[in-house]
Amino acid sequence: MKTFQELSQLFLTHFNIRHFPDQPPGLYDAAAYMLGIGGKRLRPVLSLMGNELFSEIQPDAWKIASAIELFHNFTLIHDDIMDKAPMRRGRATVHVKYNESSALLAGDVMLLQAYEYLNGTDARIVRTLIHLLNQTGKQVCEGQQLDLDFEKSESVTSADYLHMIELKTAVLLAVSLQMGSIVAGASEAEQQHLYAFGKNLGLAFQVQDDWLDAFGDPEKFGKQSGGDIIQNKKTFLLVKALEAANADQKKEILQLLDQTSPDKVQKMLDLFAACGVDEAAKKAQEQYLELASAHLDAVNVSPERKIPLRDLGAYLMQRKF
Ligand code: IPE
Ligand code: IPE
Ligand code: MG
Ligand code: MG
Ligand code: MG
Repeated sequence: MKTFQELSQLFLTHFNIRHFPDQPPGLYDAAAYMLGIGGKRLRPVLSLMGNELFSEIQPDAWKIASAIELFHNFTLIHDDIMDKAPMRRGRATVHVKYNESSALLAGDVMLLQAYEYLNGTDARIVRTLIHLLNQTGKQVCEGQQLDLDFEKSESVTSADYLHMIELKTAVLLAVSLQMGSIVAGASEAEQQHLYAFGKNLGLAFQVQDDWLDAFGDPEKFGKQSGGDIIQNKKTFLLVKALEAANADQKKEILQLLDQTSPDKVQKMLDLFAACGVDEAAKKAQEQYLELASAHLDAVNVSPERKIPLRDLGAYLMQRKF
């Protein structure tokens, strides 16, 4: 059984090839730039782990892993346009370095190449895999639309937030694991337990992403510090702060949402801290990881085989990047 670090190294030996031709450079340089600036490669590793939980890693798992990482990078390029983000992975975002139109196309071409890789999998599973990525892709679009809608709303509840992050983030982690398990011939019940494991891991992962956006070290996290605050994103931190705030704090938060002043980020961070969002985030993450763990318990393989997936939650929650 291989660890996250081992699998991500192995994945790169498959993935760091040229996925696209050279011409026209306006399109393919932008795509190659995005793939070249790194990333944790979490989702492809989840596919590999989903396979290795049950059997030796099969050739189709590598194709799925490449497809999923391309799909993920497609969503990030488009997300950075929507979020007006200047930085990702410590570098200029694709639309800033090139331009918005080329960034849109670079994302599109990655999505199409993702399907090309999926299309090369065994005839017994190819239709299922394509169906699953289609369903997931539509859910991600729904989540991203809600994320944008919520920027304009001041009445986003915890339940709304949870629904939104399940769609924009958690389902892709979930289906990555499921697809890997399909290659290994997992039963429908086992697939569903892995899906649920990935979904709960994904919820904890997005809460951590929200926390790092506000309180992380931008040098390590690689994104603009306070980007979510600038965009009035209804993050875990904002939703929880509004829930916990007293009347004065609540008024201040709502006033800040209407402002674009230079000290907006710092003032919001102070209010977040005063409302105890740190504790709330830790508690929520622990809860989701426990739920994830219970689904892993239910999978009928030896405990040793589960070790890499068991360790993953803790590894992701202490990440700084
Ligand atoms: C960023 O995902 C988008 C979210 C769902 C939070 P990652 O944090 O996995 O991004 P990379 O691929 O490692 O850069
Ligand atoms: C990302 O959410 C979700 C998708 C890319 C689908 P975020 O907007 O929080 O991701 P980052 O922080 O820009 O990576
Ligand atoms: Mg974003
Ligand atoms: Mg976003
Ligand atoms: Mg984020």
